[in-house]
Amino acid sequence: MNNSLKNRDIDELRGKVIPPAHTSLHSLYVESARGALVYDVEGKEYIDFAGGIAVMNVGHSHPKVVAAIKDQAEKFTHTCFMVVPYAAAVELADKLCALVPGSFPKMALFVNSGAEAVENAVKVARYATRRPGIVAFENGYHGRTLLTMTLTSKVKPYKFGFGPFAPEIYRMPFAYCYRCSLGLDYPRCGIACAERLNDFFLNYADAEHIAAVIFEPVQGEGGFIVPPREYFPRVASICRDNGILLIADEIQTGMGRTGTMFAMEQYGVEPDITTVAKSLAAGMPLSAVVGRKDLMDKVHTGGLGGTYGANPVSCRAALAVLEIFEEENLLDKAKALGEKLEKKLRAWKERYEIIGDVRGLGPMRAMELVKDRRSKAPAADEAKNLVKFCAARGLILLSCGTLGNVIRLLMPLVITDAQLEKGLSILEEGIGGISAR
Ligand SMILES: Cc1ncc(COP(=O)(O)O)c(C=O)c1O
Repeated sequence: MNNSLKNRDIDELRGKVIPPAHTSLHSLYVESARGALVYDVEGKEYIDFAGGIAVMNVGHSHPKVVAAIKDQAEKFTHTCFMVVPYAAAVELADKLCALVPGSFPKMALFVNSGAEAVENAVKVARYATRRPGIVAFENGYHGRTLLTMTLTSKVKPYKFGFGPFAPEIYRMPFAYCYRCSLGLDYPRCGIACAERLNDFFLNYADAEHIAAVIFEPVQGEGGFIVPPREYFPRVASICRDNGILLIADEIQTGMGRTGTMFAMEQYGVEPDITTVAKSLAAGMPLSAVVGRKDLMDKVHTGGLGGTYGANPVSCRAALAVLEIFEEENLLDKAKALGEKLEKKLRAWKERYEIIGDVRGLGPMRAMELVKDRRSKAPAADEAKNLVKFCAARGLILLSCGTLGNVIRLLMPLVITDAQLEKGLSILEEGIGGISAR
């Protein structure tokens, strides 16, 4: 690529050759990135509060990850694990099986994307239980392939016009307490949304028809929705009573994002199958299905896999990521970052009416913007304007939420105090600006 190109030139060419469906939130084109900083082709510096959507927990181009990638690329980049295997994938599987919640023997399958991991988790669950049904949740997000798009809740832009959808997917309300779909108030509700599962078996599909319930421990794309502590234990107990498996989609919440390696550690529930991706390999395409050995073992030889699954360069990058977590005490850093963000966001909520709710787990934090606190009318345009305002001042920010009105924070866990303070002050200036309007 010609290095003298400006953002505008690249954008113009992009408009001709890349379909608008594959959109970008920002129209800056990246030249390089390091830690929590991103530089565009025009040399402008940005503080990154998006981390490539929760992928860069160890920071951009961490020297250790870069060294592992270079070293592996010089040795070999692909043989296909299904043809000639290599140790890095086995070593990584061993480490992940130990890290993923669950006090039982586990096995790990490696594929390439989050959606592919979810697809395979469902395959394993159906195979092992010999049941077809899968229950997913309102506001849930699991990917863009046919099955994962079907599991995903939000219609536009993810599903609209792309049907017919995969069969045997059912949907339940989630514990979105700020906007309870049952119109109840926590804790007086007695987590009625979890109890709903029993009604579901009467009205939609018998429990014996359901292979698994798939959920995000904290819903990501749906708006950083954190269910109350009792929610998953109750769902798990109903599932256990009915032989239904629990699939925790930790693709966004995993790898330290919530202050523990995996979010389910904080709910005291051991999922039967966990999906991992995003920050697993610091941007190299790699995802994993980590599940109970007795389930993973069941599938017939050759029933799972793919050409690129367990790519050696990606596996080496992931091994480097795990080392970085240990060497740099990233989980402690994550917890401290979470506490700082929680304090800051709570203070902002006191100050700015536009912030209707602040929530999160560890450093996976967000604020939901509303036009006024009583009606809770979503302030989606304001969220969009805030993202634009911040970008112009050198801060990359992301929105989310089914209503498009949630600002989420996904900065690399290695962000320095100075970078964090600077980013937050730009963000506060923006919030102050939209609140004053
Ligand atoms: C919880 C969750 N599951 C699945 C996916 C899909 O992952 P991918 O985009 O790698 O297919 C995502 C992506 O945002 C996610 O957040």
